[in-house]
Amino acid sequence: MRYNIKKIRENFPILNQQVYNKTFVYLDSAASAQKPVQVLLKEEQLHNDFYGNIHRAAHFMADKATAEFEAVRDKIKDFINAESREEIIFTKGTTESINLVASSFCEKFLNAGDEIIVSEMEHHSNIVPWQLAAQRKGAKVVKLPFSDDGVLQIEKLPELINKKTKLIAVAHVSNVLGTVNPISEITKIAHENGVVVLVDGAQAVQHIKIDVQKTDVDFYVFSAHKMYGPNGVGVLWGKKKLLNEMPPYQGGGEMIAEVSFEKTTFNELPYKFEAGTPNITGVIAFGAAIDFINEVGIDEIAEWEHELLEYAKSKLDKIEGMNFYGESPTKTSVISFNIDGVHSYDLGMLLDKLGIAIRTGHHCADTVMQHFGIQGTARISFGMYNTKAEIDIFIAALNRVRMMF
Ligand code: ALA
Repeated sequence: MRYNIKKIRENFPILNQQVYNKTFVYLDSAASAQKPVQVLLKEEQLHNDFYGNIHRAAHFMADKATAEFEAVRDKIKDFINAESREEIIFTKGTTESINLVASSFCEKFLNAGDEIIVSEMEHHSNIVPWQLAAQRKGAKVVKLPFSDDGVLQIEKLPELINKKTKLIAVAHVSNVLGTVNPISEITKIAHENGVVVLVDGAQAVQHIKIDVQKTDVDFYVFSAHKMYGPNGVGVLWGKKKLLNEMPPYQGGGEMIAEVSFEKTTFNELPYKFEAGTPNITGVIAFGAAIDFINEVGIDEIAEWEHELLEYAKSKLDKIEGMNFYGESPTKTSVISFNIDGVHSYDLGMLLDKLGIAIRTGHHCADTVMQHFGIQGTARISFGMYNTKAEIDIFIAALNRVRMMF
């Protein structure tokens, strides 16, 4: 396999250092990915060379910043193979993208007595906005369960869907279980019943190629900071027809066509949903992150991360007292576990002192914890820059910690 890991890592200076005099091993990319120098340089270049507020002013700097900002919309359109650039809405992140749909779609289409199906393996961000919308409208949130190996029970979908079902909300990849859900299959069942599908792609789009037209989902949302880009930037992609029918989410500048005290008319897509000055710096730097992923190749990244996953799992399997959460045959980049007799917080703290960054706790996925009857897990997650040597360091550290208990 031609995957130049050494060259890739050279672009991430943060990885090539020591913490507590130990080699730094970053196994927490599912929480947030590290940024390559290209992203950091782009932010600097914007402020040194061509900063101005976008869309509004008639001057060189504003024009240049606007062109750069809008070019990123095109990059994202190509990256996820959207039909049109108007379908790409910039938000603060995945959470805001979901809240936008939960607020605007539900305002228009959800009625008292209606139902929204939400999978049991969702992050809180893909549960709570639907509960809030359901409360406002007198509607109901219905659970689509997963089995103990972390596989969504989509065979239950036909019996859960009824005439009142308006939307299904599901993660493409679970942030705890790593399960890759069959979103095309789910969408096919949903569409046969006239139900709309929103997919949370926050843990997927940096790991696997997504083609929103091919999958036929209706909304797909994700965040830049998990894609080696800046935080505070996210994307809502939605089908134009639906976005056009939905009312604005927030009022402010840019989202209007004309304002008077008698009547306000709204701008076209995508601006209808982009009230206020957006995160200009973040979006433009996000473009550099997309370029970087494209340069390495999303398929090559997927293949490498799969190799890391298999390698890590084969090593972890040899350790006594391990309990794994999420053993789906379709899985990517995340391993959640507990060790008998060791609290995940203690494990995280001790590994940190050995230079290894992992995440512990409920991972903002209480319904997953409730499924297994646990308080939390330890979780390792991979990015394009991780190596097998880092996994070896982690395994040695894990064995050391185990010996302490
Ligand atoms: N949702 C992010 C995670 O899973 C923060 O770590």
